[in-house]
Amino acid sequence: MSKTKVITISNQKGGVGKTTTVANLAYALTQMGNDVLCIDFDSQASLTNYLNVGLEDDKSYFGVYEMMLLSLRKVTRSEYPELAAYNALIETEEGFAKLCEVCIHRPTYLAREVQTIDGKRRVVDVEREFGFDLLPSHLFLADYSLELSRSASSRGGAGALRLYYVVQRIINWHEYDYILIDTNPSLEIMTMNAICAATDGVLVPTNLDLLSTRGVGNLVNKIGEIQELLLHMPEPIIHMGVIGILLNLYSERRKVDTTIQSNLNTFYPFRILQQTIPESVDAKRAVLGGLIYSQVHKKAAAQYLAVAEELEATLALMKQEGQKIQYLESASDLKIADPGE
Ligand SMILES: Nc1ncnc2c1ncn2[C@@H]1O[C@H](COP(=O)(O)OP(=O)(O)OP(=O)(O)O)[C@@H](O)[C@H]1O
Ligand SMILES: [Mg+2]
Repeated sequence: MSKTKVITISNQKGGVGKTTTVANLAYALTQMGNDVLCIDFDSQASLTNYLNVGLEDDKSYFGVYEMMLLSLRKVTRSEYPELAAYNALIETEEGFAKLCEVCIHRPTYLAREVQTIDGKRRVVDVEREFGFDLLPSHLFLADYSLELSRSASSRGGAGALRLYYVVQRIINWHEYDYILIDTNPSLEIMTMNAICAATDGVLVPTNLDLLSTRGVGNLVNKIGEIQELLLHMPEPIIHMGVIGILLNLYSERRKVDTTIQSNLNTFYPFRILQQTIPESVDAKRAVLGGLIYSQVHKKAAAQYLAVAEELEATLALMKQEGQKIQYLESASDLKIADPGE
């Protein structure tokens, strides 16, 4: 069995911090000595751009779209000339390795450093690696979504496992410690693919408002259904379900936040991560400078390290005890009391 842990970060609600979580968690896991790959499975390509890839020209690079498309079918020369040359590669493991080499990138940032040049001390920009790999996205991925929807309806839902098979081939090519998958804010076929591919579980970031947390209830139920379906396939896939709910933009001074936190703790005991992420203007400021939030904010770095450690501990416990997540039957009835503020 492979050592690679595959985790998807998902919430159908927009702007709750999915992309920020993927980038910062990847950075934290890398700091802890792990070999990490991030997959941007959102056609908005926010993670790709966050990591400074594709900022100038989103057609200049291959990424997850190309890998997924070639895995689905042959590409004609008139449709995508640069990609058609790779049609045969997907068939063999050596060919797939070559495809990985062109599709998987090593993102970088510009670090300001003081250097002595011609006897004078100068501040210069030096290109540095974040330390993890990225399978980037671009707008084309939206076309793939359409194509998958069609193929899924004609093949009884098999379209939801497309990313799973691609991820398994990537692991066969290179045994990363972690693969983290970013998703778009929806529950359509692309997100289903990302959820199915994440056999080691789904991390759900959420904001602390009533609608967001109700959305969490629906998502948890949906993932529970997927977990059951995968287990009952002809070749069963064991899936860990929801491994954590991360409270983002949290303030312990806001009563509504602490009330919702304690309600969520009642509904999903052991699933709400102890570590929360407070709101900080540095989260946005860092992106403007082409940096990850944890690089510019020491507290954020410590918070995301704590998130990574909690997830590692949960995964270790599950492995040790063969523990399958127990979903509360009442999750669909998730009601959160009005904190009365
Ligand atoms: N802890 C935080 N404090 C302040 N701002 C934050 C924090 N986390 C995320 N943000 C900001 O909130 C916005 C949305 O975050 P992000 O893009 O990560 O959400 P998302 O769930 O991936 O959105 P989408 O659903 O569109 O993909 C971004 O501008 C981001 O910089
Ligand atoms: Mg996002």
